[in-house]
Amino acid sequence: MEVVIRADPDEVGRTAADVLEPAVRAGSVIGLATGASPGPLYDDLRRRHGEEDLGFAGCRGFLLDEYVGLAADHPQSYAAVIRRELADAVGLAVEGPDGRARDLVAACERYEAAIDAAGGIDVQVLGIGTDGHLGFNEPSSSLASRTRPKTLTPQTRADNARYFASRDDVPVHVLTQGLGTILQARHLLLLATGPKKAPAVAAALEGPVTTSCPASVLQLHPHVTVLLDEPAAAELQRAEYHRFTAAHKPSWQGW
Ligand code: PGA
Repeated sequence: MEVVIRADPDEVGRTAADVLEPAVRAGSVIGLATGASPGPLYDDLRRRHGEEDLGFAGCRGFLLDEYVGLAADHPQSYAAVIRRELADAVGLAVEGPDGRARDLVAACERYEAAIDAAGGIDVQVLGIGTDGHLGFNEPSSSLASRTRPKTLTPQTRADNARYFASRDDVPVHVLTQGLGTILQARHLLLLATGPKKAPAVAAALEGPVTTSCPASVLQLHPHVTVLLDEPAAAELQRAEYHRFTAAHKPSWQGW
C-alpha cells in the first residue's frame, strides 16, 4: 500500500489524475466513486481532456454505488452526478447498478456480470465514509460481499444530507459494489480529505482488518494507492514514514 500525503484537496486531485492518466490513455475500465472526495480529481481530468488532449476513447466507467428509488433524472442519483462531474464532459460511457429496478437483487447480479463482461475494473476510485465505509459497504458488511442492496447507517445519511433538502430525503437503501467486488479491481485508488476523515483513515490503514471498519479490507489488496491531504492524515501513526517514502520514491516506480 502506497500512502501519499498532499497539502490540500486540489493537490490530492492532481496526484490522483497523474495516477489515472496512463490508465485513461490505455483505454481502461475505470471504477468511479461519487461524493466530495473525487471532485478535484474529476475537475483535473476534465481540464486535461480540454487542454492536454487526454482522450477517454476505449475507456468504460462503472459506478461504485447508487441510491435506491431516486428518479432517473434526480440530480443526486449517482448516475446523474457522474454525468455532470465527468462523463458528459469527456465522452465517457458509465454504467451503474439500477437503483430503480423492480428486482434489486437481480439488478445487482446483472451489474456484477456487466463488470465481468468488460474484463473487470482496472482502476477503482474510492472514497471513505466517516464510519469507515467503502462504497456503501457500511460497518458489519461481509469482507467477501458482492454487489447488493444495503441499508445506510444514520451517520452516513446525516453526512449526505447536505446534498438533499433534508436528512429525511436521503434514501435509506442503496446498491453498492461489495467489498469482494472492490477487491477484484486491479488497482485501488482511495482519496480522503479533511479532518472528519482522519479517524476512519487511521482505523482503515493502521487498525485491524475488520467488518467494523470496512475500508480496512484495503489491507488485503496487493495494489492500493491512498492519497490524503494533511488533515485526513492527521491521526496516522506512520505519517512520517509515508512522507519519507514519498520523498524517496524511485524514479522507475510508477503508480
Ligand atoms: P465524500 O464521501 O467523498 O463525499 O466525503 C465518501 C464516502 O462516503 O464514501
